[in-house]
Amino acid sequence: MKTWILLATAGVLGVAAVQSNGAEPQDDLRALMKKKLESSQRVLEGLAANNFETVSKNASELQRISKAGEFAVLKTPQYDAYRNQFRWAAEMLEEMAKAKNGDGAGLVYVELTLTCLKCHKHVREAGLPGK
Ligand code: HEC
Repeated sequence: MKTWILLATAGVLGVAAVQSNGAEPQDDLRALMKKKLESSQRVLEGLAANNFETVSKNASELQRISKAGEFAVLKTPQYDAYRNQFRWAAEMLEEMAKAKNGDGAGLVYVELTLTCLKCHKHVREAGLPGK
């Protein structure tokens, strides 16, 4: 489990810089994405310290982000699917944290992290509208 969490962290750090073809994203989109990174990092912090309240609080914040209108920037079915997977993982994470299931929460965290990588890859390939 620890190895997976370390791998997942490396993944998050590696994916943090999504290429944006030189153009700056809109400010609110940017702020939302920054919040997304921060909350996911806080989840890891909570998991590492076995602090379920931190995990649950930030998983709930990730759900809020997943539902924000700005997050629906791409209109492809695949983007929608990744957005749903992201939201599902954030919901599961909160459930696991509330049940104080650290191993389960760790696994769901890895799934959540994979959705970051998959969606960003799709965004790079499909390109954002207006860029
Ligand atoms: C459903 C798709 C999707 C998922 C899932 C997703 N992102 Fe993103 N992310 C985006 C889009 C779209 C952008 C905006 C890219 C751009 O402006 O070029 C973005 C931007 C970012 C940025 C800002 C990058 C920059 O160039 O400023 C960070 C950091 C980020 N995401 C982190 C994460 C992390 C961490 C996760 C997982 C916890 C995650 N994202 C999950 C779609 C997604």
